[in-house]
Amino acid sequence: MILVTGGAGFIGANFVLDWLAGSDEPILNLDKLTYAGNMDSLAALKGDARHVFVHGDIGDSELTSALFAEHRPRAVVNFAAESHVDRSIHGPEDFIQTNVMGTMRLLQSAHAYWQALDEEAKPSFRFLHVSTDEVYGSLGPSDPAFTEDKKYEPNSPYSASKAASDHLVRAWLHTFGLPVLTTNCSNNYGPLHFPEKLIPLMIVNALTGKRLPVYGDGQRVRDWLYVKDHCSAIRRVLEAGVVGETYNVGGWNEKPNLFIVNTVCSLLDELQPRPDGKSYAEQISFVPDRPGHDRRYAIDASKIERELGWRPTETFETGIRKTVQWYLANPDWVSKVQSGAYRQWLETNYQARA
Ligand code: NAD
Ligand code: DAU
Repeated sequence: MILVTGGAGFIGANFVLDWLAGSDEPILNLDKLTYAGNMDSLAALKGDARHVFVHGDIGDSELTSALFAEHRPRAVVNFAAESHVDRSIHGPEDFIQTNVMGTMRLLQSAHAYWQALDEEAKPSFRFLHVSTDEVYGSLGPSDPAFTEDKKYEPNSPYSASKAASDHLVRAWLHTFGLPVLTTNCSNNYGPLHFPEKLIPLMIVNALTGKRLPVYGDGQRVRDWLYVKDHCSAIRRVLEAGVVGETYNVGGWNEKPNLFIVNTVCSLLDELQPRPDGKSYAEQISFVPDRPGHDRRYAIDASKIERELGWRPTETFETGIRKTVQWYLANPDWVSKVQSGAYRQWLETNYQARA
């Protein structure tokens, strides 16, 4: 089996569902179930013996050591993290605790387990760390896209904590020999995305008649990748990636935020028109910017294509349509995640921007 951490979050849950749809190899899913972890996302796996869920923290060394000893995974895929930039601005501590300390403790447990494997099993073990393009910093409008050898220049507490975790993963290979792989991916979107992030927030706010808060002038650029394509890239890196290498993963799809929000509005206008016949775009509201807001991210994903033969299968047009359709078809999932804690976050982040 493989050990997946953070498998009740957005990308982790998509990864677990896709993995078990295509393989009978079981998954041990370790998740702390923070506000971002959601068992409803895994409801389709209820009663499926191939999915073993454990509620716990990657920073709990006693727990992870026991899990390695009992389940003897052949690989770890580490998704577990605090992932929202705005939350890292309001409260960075949890980011350091999970992304830095938690990753370090998981590496320690994985290393102790790996060291005791027999000589046949040792070389095929993998620790795949899922990271982000944000560690590379911000690009100017005409700078080349990030390649794997771009210098790390993180600008937010979130990206700084992910950069630290990437460096720890690298150190566990060079110092201790643990067979690691790292992926650095651009912005994901798709089903099961928690509505604190741009695309699901815009869909949910639009449908509930709220304003659509666009930071600054809406001209910041992100490189968007459909989440299922990210999952297939991770499977490919796990299968064929070279130990110690990092692989950039992206959609070749750079778009300004305002374009994204207008696209969501047009799709909603088509698929679920407003009762008054007006466009959802009327709800767009420009609000004060995110402090330290990175201008542009762009991934050069040619290495993973050249060396491992991976390319995204969705275009932005097909992926965003599927995404909007998924939110329209799953109102129960959406309403359940809008708990008191979620409403409190909206107040914290958006009231000062009113
Ligand atoms: P998410 O916030 O939706 O999910 C994170 C999951 O990790 C949640 O289920 C949460 O409960 C769990 N978790 C948090 N702390 C934990 C801990 N200490 N121990 C165990 N579980 C814990 O995040 P996501 O968007 O699915 O991102 C997953 C990973 O991919 C993160 O490492 C993130 O940095 C990276 N990433 C995300 C994106 C993106 O666009 N969302 C892009 C590139 C990389
Ligand atoms: O690039 C990969 C990263 O993408 C991941 O590592 C992060 O985990 C993930 O959250 C995402 O980070 P971003 O900060 O780019 O995503 P977010 O959805 O928060 O914001 C996308 C853009 O939209 C960003 O330029 C800020 C802007 N934005 C966001 C929100 C929540 C708004 O204009 N309004 C909003 O209300």
